[in-house]
Amino acid sequence: MMHLFSFLTHSPINHANLSWADPRDERLEGMKSFKYWQDLARTLERGKFDGVFFADTMGGFDQYKQRTDEAVKYGVWWPIHDPAPVLAAMGAATSHLGLGFTLSTTAVHPYQAVRTISTLDYLTGGRVAWNIVTGASRGEHRALGHEQMDHDERYDRADEFLEICEAYWSGVDPTAILADRKNLILADPEKVSRVEHNGKYFRTSAVPPTFPSPQGRPVIFQAGSSGRGQSFAMKHADVVFAVQPHAQGAKKLMGDLNAAARAAGRDGCNVLFGVQVILGGTEEEARRNQKELVERIPLEAALSRVSGVMGIDFDTLDLDKPLEQMDTQAARGLMAAALATGSSAQITGREAALLWGASAGNPQIVGTPEQVADKLEAYWRDTGCSGFNITPSITPSGIEDFVDHVVPILQERKVFRREYEGNTLRENLLSKA
Ligand SMILES: Cc1cc2nc3c(=O)[nH]c(=O)nc-3n(C[C@H](O)[C@H](O)[C@H](O)COP(=O)(O)O)c2cc1C
Repeated sequence: MMHLFSFLTHSPINHANLSWADPRDERLEGMKSFKYWQDLARTLERGKFDGVFFADTMGGFDQYKQRTDEAVKYGVWWPIHDPAPVLAAMGAATSHLGLGFTLSTTAVHPYQAVRTISTLDYLTGGRVAWNIVTGASRGEHRALGHEQMDHDERYDRADEFLEICEAYWSGVDPTAILADRKNLILADPEKVSRVEHNGKYFRTSAVPPTFPSPQGRPVIFQAGSSGRGQSFAMKHADVVFAVQPHAQGAKKLMGDLNAAARAAGRDGCNVLFGVQVILGGTEEEARRNQKELVERIPLEAALSRVSGVMGIDFDTLDLDKPLEQMDTQAARGLMAAALATGSSAQITGREAALLWGASAGNPQIVGTPEQVADKLEAYWRDTGCSGFNITPSITPSGIEDFVDHVVPILQERKVFRREYEGNTLRENLLSKA
């Protein structure tokens, strides 16, 4: 079965820059209300989506011209609010929808991460996913008052971070909670292990901070696709989340990830690909919607985004020259994805900016509901991926239209569920049905 997530941020846009300026878009008003997010969650649950997935970054995009002015001016992921409270509200309005969010290993201490994630997982009956990121954005490090650590060392540090999380998650034996009112004993201390860790990057000494949640540990997503990112994913993640603008790159990445998984003793790799869906009642209308979206974006907004994500100041490049692989401390996998066009044609800096400005590299799937269903199904079968993280170009109508018009076609074709398989996200997302 195909798996579907809705790719969101608590920001004026998702991945289409300036989408907030579209007269049909309700995000700016919706940002400030629980109702907007809860309605979205109910719609997605009605459509049997596996879950929502919130991207997040602290600090914002500050590489373009070495400043944040363009990001602020055009609302390029500025501001971007903390997704954890939003997820709590969405969880309260639903019973099966998975609730995924991004939390950077740079931003918090592992104990704090476990406490926040497991509190949410406990409250929602085991529906939480954690997208582990290491802080690819330089702005995040600056916001928190330290220099950005080198790419590979960030992953080394994250390995230690996860070691601590695992120790806390397995620190309460399932039989430890007695809740014995008669003898006045809540839990058996013999069955609650104290974690003592004194490592290269972290120190901690405590008992686990929460009751065990129904999943025990959250579903873990990881989105780095460089060599070091892949080895980190194989060690810790349940699902790899990838963005590949070109079909050729998607197939190659799937092959690489499956090989890495098998080398790590796994059956294969669960991969969700990001896609941007643009619907229309007719193909012509869908194409018009796509054109409007692309034409609305000022070049400077696009440059702010692509510079921030790639960790390179595009103001220093000749935009009409082919983009070349450059050393970056940010997202190496995304840079490689942009360059792998699948043909001998090389992408220029301008083309990369436009691609990132419109969809942050997510391939655009454009058409009528039938055409979109065809394209998603073909992509799914062709790559062997688990499914998609779908970024709507406008909200909430992009999500409502997908649920009302595309989901029924996928269900009719028996490639997407009509009912949830289980109660926890792990049961739904990782079931082999
Ligand atoms: C699909 C996708 C989604 C990502 N989402 C986020 C995010 O929400 N926040 C963030 O800080 N980094 C995000 N990243 C960056 C990755 O976590 C990772 O740091 C980056 O891709 C660099 O890894 P790599 O060099 O191993 O490819 C994302 C990357 C990809 C490919």
